[in-house]
Amino acid sequence: MEHGSATATASPNIAFVKYWGKRDEELILPYNSSVSMTLDDSLNTVTSVLFSKELNADRFFINGEEQDLSDNDIAERFKVVGIMRRKAGSADHVLVVSRNSFPTASGLASSASGTAALAYACSRALGLKLSAKELSIIARQGSGSSCRSILGGIVVWKKGRNADGSDSYAKRIAKKEQWPDLIDIIAIVSTERKRVLSRSGMQQTVESSSLFKARAKFAERNSRDFAKAVKSKDFDSMASIIMKESNDMHAVMLDTYPPIIYLNDVSKEIIAAIHGLNESSGKALAAYTFDAGPNAHIITLKGNEEAVRNALSRVDGIRETITAGIGSGPRALSEKDSLIDMERLMPKS
Ligand code: PMV
Repeated sequence: MEHGSATATASPNIAFVKYWGKRDEELILPYNSSVSMTLDDSLNTVTSVLFSKELNADRFFINGEEQDLSDNDIAERFKVVGIMRRKAGSADHVLVVSRNSFPTASGLASSASGTAALAYACSRALGLKLSAKELSIIARQGSGSSCRSILGGIVVWKKGRNADGSDSYAKRIAKKEQWPDLIDIIAIVSTERKRVLSRSGMQQTVESSSLFKARAKFAERNSRDFAKAVKSKDFDSMASIIMKESNDMHAVMLDTYPPIIYLNDVSKEIIAAIHGLNESSGKALAAYTFDAGPNAHIITLKGNEEAVRNALSRVDGIRETITAGIGSGPRALSEKDSLIDMERLMPKS
């Protein structure tokens, strides 16, 4: 093959049962299973890849900026390319051009959508016919949480037991159509880059938190219970698991030495506001969850959006909110959507 190119789009996911801690750093194997919802196109990454003999080096551009492939975080994500090349028996260099359509300064991580889009685009450009399971295993090795963005709907990342990671992959537990009203109201409280990256943060937690062993068991049970609640359409149980999971992950972060503190005072106000809303309604209308940062994700159903917005309007310090629905997973885009200028073998300007 002289040229192999493809363009794909993928969206981030928000974890309901959290992944925090690897049992294998190289293969990115987690201590516990996790569950998430893949978001819709309101937030997405578009990635074009071109494998060609005419390229004399690998190059990677994100939002118009060339990335340093020797940077640890970028190199880890780029592992996906190497795995795909080996699978296809290709020795060609690659040009990767990626663009995040995240609302500017949203402070939201794009590594999951970026890595999922990269894996998806590479497999198509190299003519590899991979199942969602195989794709998720490859994406996982670039960024753990990205393996859940390989599928739409509500997705579980099974922790697996095998040392080679062959049973640690993403599986859909509900299609988007089964939970069409599920939304994530993202309350942006800070646009700062996180001080402790998830990679080093979770490693420190595994090494120093005495509560972490209990967390791994708790999260595994929550993954199973959450799947049951999804099947039985029990939003009340889903909401309580989502909130307890976020609290438990942030508890082991605080128990890490030195402590990792992502939540700020506004985050804590939001937690109180959501509990207040649920208590006054006599049932769970919404659940909060936080990843490695202070921005809140409020998980609710479309019909409750106004009540949630009302509750949030009383919290000082929320800069803006973005609402994302449940998404259907990565998809290929046509050649006219390519971000690559095929004449110059460079990003389109
Ligand atoms: O895959 P990473 O390294 O971006 O880790 C993500 C971890 C959390 O977002 C905090 C939780 C999760 O399960 O997504």
